[in-house]
Formats: sequence, C-alpha cells, structure tokens
Amino acid sequence: MSTKVDLVSSTMIPGDTAPASRPFTKSDPQHPAPSERRRSTEGLELRLNQRYGSAASQSPRFEDQRGTATLEGLLSHRSVRRYLQQPLEPGTLELLIAAAQSAASSSNLQLWSVVNVEDPELRQALSSLAGDQAHVRSAPLFLVWVADLHRASELARLRGLPDDGLNYLESLLVASVDAALAAQNAVVAAEALGLGTVYIGALRNHPDHVAALLGLPRHAFAVFGLCVGWPDPAAAAPVKPRLPQAVVVHHERYRFAEQEHAQVEEYDQLMQRFYASQQMPVPEGGWSWHSARRFASAAALNGRHLLREALARLGFELR
Ligand SMILES: Cc1cc2nc3c(=O)[nH]c(=O)nc-3n(C[C@H](O)[C@H](O)[C@H](O)COP(=O)(O)O)c2cc1C
Repeated sequence: MSTKVDLVSSTMIPGDTAPASRPFTKSDPQHPAPSERRRSTEGLELRLNQRYGSAASQSPRFEDQRGTATLEGLLSHRSVRRYLQQPLEPGTLELLIAAAQSAASSSNLQLWSVVNVEDPELRQALSSLAGDQAHVRSAPLFLVWVADLHRASELARLRGLPDDGLNYLESLLVASVDAALAAQNAVVAAEALGLGTVYIGALRNHPDHVAALLGLPRHAFAVFGLCVGWPDPAAAAPVKPRLPQAVVVHHERYRFAEQEHAQVEEYDQLMQRFYASQQMPVPEGGWSWHSARRFASAAALNGRHLLREALARLGFELR
C-alpha cells in the first residue's frame, strides 16, 4: 500500500464520524489560544493532505489562524451512507434550514423549497426511484431540495402580472443554483454538528414520479435529495481525494495544458490506491475512465437524458 494512501486512511480523525463527536468546540475557533496554534496548523495541514492524498497539497502555506474550525470542517467533508438509528437532536432541522436560508440567493428571489420526508412508505418509494439506495430509507432525516418557480408564479398571478420570464432556461438555472447553494449550506451546518450527509442526485432518474409522490405543483422540480444522520462509526467514511489544484485552477484564461493530462493520470493512480485501501471496487482504468464513460452515451445518464421532456411535463418550457 502506498504511503500516500496510508496518509489518507490512517489520518482519519477519530470521532469525526462518531455521533458523540463535537469537533472544533474546544476553543473559540476564530481566536485560538497561542498554545493551540500549533495544533490548528497541523489540523489544517493534515486535512489538506487528506484532500489531495499527498503532502504537497499547498504551497505556499497559509499561516493565518483565523477560520481554522470552519476550514477544517470544509476540508473534512466526506459523503456518509451508513447512519446510526439514533434520532437527531430537537431543533436540528430548523437549524439546518436556517443555515440553508442564510446562503446567498440570486436577487434574493429565494427560488427553492425543501420537502422533509418522514413517511416510511414515501421513503421506500423514493429509494426505489433512486436506484434502491438503502440510505434514503434509513437516514434519520431525508430532505428533497426543490427548484421552485411555482411560488414566483403564484406571486405574479395574485398580483395580476404575467410570469413569462419563468418559461426560460435561465429561470430554472437560477432556481437550481439557489437550491444547491442552500442545500450545501445545510450540509456544512450538519457536518459542523458532527452529522453526516449524502446528496441523492438519483432522484432525477424519475423526475415526474418524484414530483407526483411529493405532490409538487407545476414549475417545481426536485433537484436532489439529501440524507442526514449520525454517521455509523462501524462504516467510517473516508475523505475522498480530489484533482490537483493545477488541473482545476486557471489563471487569466482557461487552458487545459498537456501537463494536466499527466496530472490527471497521477490522480487516476492515487484514486486506484485510494479505492483499494478502502476495499471499494476500483473503477476500471481509474477516475478519468470513470469520468469519460459517464458521458460516453445517453444510456450512462441513467434516464436523465430524458430530463428535458420530463421538465416540460412539469411545466418548464425552457425557452
Ligand atoms: C448533486 C449530487 C448528487 C449526488 N448523488 C448521489 C447519489 O445519488 N447517491 C450517492 O450515494 N452519492 C451521491 N452523491 C455523492 C457523490 O458521489 C460524492 O459527493 C462524490 O463521490 C465525492 O465523494 P465525497 O462527497 O465523499 O467527497 C452526489 C453528490 C452530489 C453533489
């Protein structure tokens, strides 16, 4: 096993995924005591190494201690698909929604809604539509994030105004971006509480069915679901390394240089070692093949190639 992958798995912070874990609450994260500075810097460095699977993750080093807790939280993200059957603390949902509503919103239009699904039968039906994902049934909390142009349409109707602008692709894009930003704020908040989450984009495999099950009105579209719960420590989720920054960051103008292919290949190797270290199936050829195969045919989109037609049935003209 390579040193790099050892770094990824062996540096799992104990308790990070455990329900009792309350990371980052020991001191005021914005103003760490001098004695804690060393620990904070090491924590950040450790998490950067996990994120990129190597020690060469950040150059030059960022020395400022401010925001360490928030940064460590962000850098520690991992999707969690196994939960303890332990209820969330009272007020959790409300706190997550407040975090979601604190996200930026295009022109403050707030073009999203969220459906909290508790009914086991409904969960079962949604799970089936989403490729039978067990965590949709088992997560203590399951939220469906909705790009919601219905509310805007109603506001216009009640004020005697037309709503022609809602029929354009731009409006659905704005609503979907709003929904995603809101959901991600909820994810960050949940993780700060020690909870785990995973998005469920597979709901888009059957947008009409999902809309019917949730009673969505016209001009409302379930962008994705989100499972939330206390992570099961027996199935601790690893931090999944990402592409090197040099591949995703461009300066002044976009440029996919030759050398980036080499860096992608290195990432392929890193990910193969990562999957092997986690006893997870290794995608044939590595990440780049996994990525390329995803777009090789419409069939690989798991039914989502029919999204435009489904959206039309849900009232979106997408002009
Ligand atoms: C919009 C979106 C939809 C996703 N849909 C699913 C899903 O249906 N099922 C699942 O298990 N994971 C899903 N994921 C989780 C991704 O697989 C995961 O974020 C990715 O592999 C990176 O791993 P990490 O989140 O642990 O860093 C989704 C993520 C996003 C952002």
